[in-house]
Amino acid sequence: MIKEITTRPFDDQKPGTSGLRKKVPVFQQPSYVENFIQSIFDSIEGRAGQTLIIGGDGRFFNREVVQTAIKMATANGFGRLLVGRGGLLSTPAASNLIRKSGAIGGLILSASHNPGGPKEDFGIKFNAANGGPAPERITDAIFRRSREISAYRICETDDVDLETTGHLTLGETAIEIVDPVADYAELMESLFDFDAIRAMVEGGFRMVFDAMHAVTGPYAREIFENRLGAPAGTVLNGEPLADFGGHHPDPNLVHARDLYELMMGPDAPDFGAASDGDGDRNLIIGKGIYVAPSDSLAVLAANAHLAPAYRGGLKGIARSMPTSAAADRVAERLAIPSFETPTGWKYFGNLLDADMATICGEESAGTGSNHVREKDGIWAVLLWLNILAARRESVRAVVEGHWAEYGRNYYARHDYEGLETAVAERLVGGLRERLSSLPGTRVGPYAVTAADDFAYKDPVDGSLSEHQGIRILFEGGSRIVFRLSGTGTTGATLRVYLERYEADRARIGLETGDALSELVAAADELAAIKALTGRDRPSVVT
Ligand code: G1P
Ligand code: ZN
Repeated sequence: MIKEITTRPFDDQKPGTSGLRKKVPVFQQPSYVENFIQSIFDSIEGRAGQTLIIGGDGRFFNREVVQTAIKMATANGFGRLLVGRGGLLSTPAASNLIRKSGAIGGLILSASHNPGGPKEDFGIKFNAANGGPAPERITDAIFRRSREISAYRICETDDVDLETTGHLTLGETAIEIVDPVADYAELMESLFDFDAIRAMVEGGFRMVFDAMHAVTGPYAREIFENRLGAPAGTVLNGEPLADFGGHHPDPNLVHARDLYELMMGPDAPDFGAASDGDGDRNLIIGKGIYVAPSDSLAVLAANAHLAPAYRGGLKGIARSMPTSAAADRVAERLAIPSFETPTGWKYFGNLLDADMATICGEESAGTGSNHVREKDGIWAVLLWLNILAARRESVRAVVEGHWAEYGRNYYARHDYEGLETAVAERLVGGLRERLSSLPGTRVGPYAVTAADDFAYKDPVDGSLSEHQGIRILFEGGSRIVFRLSGTGTTGATLRVYLERYEADRARIGLETGDALSELVAAADELAAIKALTGRDRPSVVT
C-alpha cells in the first residue's frame, strides 16, 4: 500500500565528491534515508515507468537501505527495478547494468573505501542514465530538493527476499533480483584477451587479489579463479563483510599492508592487486615494485592497444587535475588529446559520452575506460594482466621501460586527516590570497612559473566548476597541489599532492621519498602546514 508520509527537511544532505556520505547513526535518524532518496527521485525527470538499478557494497546498513529504496521506488512510479542479489552490486557493475538495461539511473549504496560498521560510514549515490555519477546540475537539484522536502512516498509492505535471483512484482513495479556478477564478468570477457591471460596463468604466472572483505570478492573469484584458471586461494579476503573485517577497505600501502609485504617478500608472486569497498579503485603491485596510480594510468594508456577492446587506439586520455602529468606525455606521443578535470569521476562522464576520451584516471587509485561510466578496479587489473600476457614481461620491466621512454613523474600525496574545518579553510584561503604574488618567486630550489585556483570548463556542455584546488607550478614540470577532501565525514582533510618530473634517465631510479624531499619542504614553506595545523607529519602518505 502506497503511503505519503510527512517529513521535515535536513539541512546537511549536500552530495560531495561522490554522493552523500555520513556516519551510519546520521543515516539512521528517522526519515533521513527516506528524505534523501525522495529528493533524488524528485530530481529525476520522467521517471514514471522507467528502470532503476539498486545495489551497494554490502557494508553495514546496506540491506536496510536497499529495502527502503525498493519500497520507495515502487511508490514513486518506477516500472522496473533491477536489484543485485543480497543487495550487492559493485559500483562499476551497477554502472554497467544501468547502461545495459537502458535504466534511467541507479542508486549505489556505498561509502567506497571508508570503513563500515554501526559507527562507521555509509553513503548513497545516484548515477544517471549514462551509468555515471550524477553531474553537478543534478546533485545541486537533489540538495535543493532536500532542503524543502515535506513528504516522501513509500509502499508499506513486507521486505523483499533479496537472496534468490528471480522476478517478483510489487504494486505496478516489476522487480528482478539479479546475479550481481554475471553481466559484469561477461563485459570483462568481451574487452580482454582471456585466452592469453589464461595461458599465462597456466604457464606458471602467479597472482593474488586482495578483495579486502569488500564487494569484489565474488567478482574476483568468478573472473580470476573460475574463468581465468587461477588456483583457488588467489582471491584473499573474498567474503564481503558488513564491517570489512574491521579494516578500511582502501587499497593503498597503509591499509593493504599485508599485500604489500607479500609482494616485497622473497617469495612474492608475479602480480598483486587489490580493490576497495565498492570495487572501483585498484592497487597494483609487481614483484618488488609498487606501481603508483598515476604511473599505472600512463602505462595502461600507453599499452591499451594490446587488449582487444582498445586495438583501434584511444580517442583521448583524461586525468583529474591532482593526478600526475605522466599520462599527458603518453597522449602527446600518441598524438591524441589529453584532458585535465576536477577531482571526482563525474567530470569524466561527458568526455566519455562524447567519445573525446577513452581512458581516464585519478591519482587516488581510480582508472577506467569508456566501457562503463565509473572507475573500475577489476578492469584495471585485467588490463594489466592482458598487457603482461601480450608483452611477456614483468611488471617491473614494463614500468621501468616506461620511465626510460617518457621520463618519470615522481609523485606522492600527503593527507592531513581530521583537521578542524576552520584551520583547513584558513590554510587554503591564505594560499588563495597569495596566488597572484607567487609567480616569479622561488621556494627552496623551485622557481614558481604559475599559481592558480583550478577551474574547469567542460568542453562538452560548457559548465564551469571553480575552486577545485590550488596549483603551484614550478619550472621543469614539478608542482604542488593543495585541496580539501570532499568525501570525508569528520572534520576536514587537507590533501597535498607533490610531483617532480625527472627527464634524466640516470635519475629515474630514486626512492620516491628521497626524490620529493625538497618539494615536501617547499609545500610547508608555502602553506605553513606545520604552524597552522600543529601536525609535524601527514596522517597518510600514498
Ligand atoms: C577522493 C579522491 C578522488 C575520488 C573520490 C571518490 O575524493 O581524492 O580522486 O574520485 O575520493 O573515490 P576527495 O576526498 O579527495 O574529495
Ligand atoms: Zn570506491
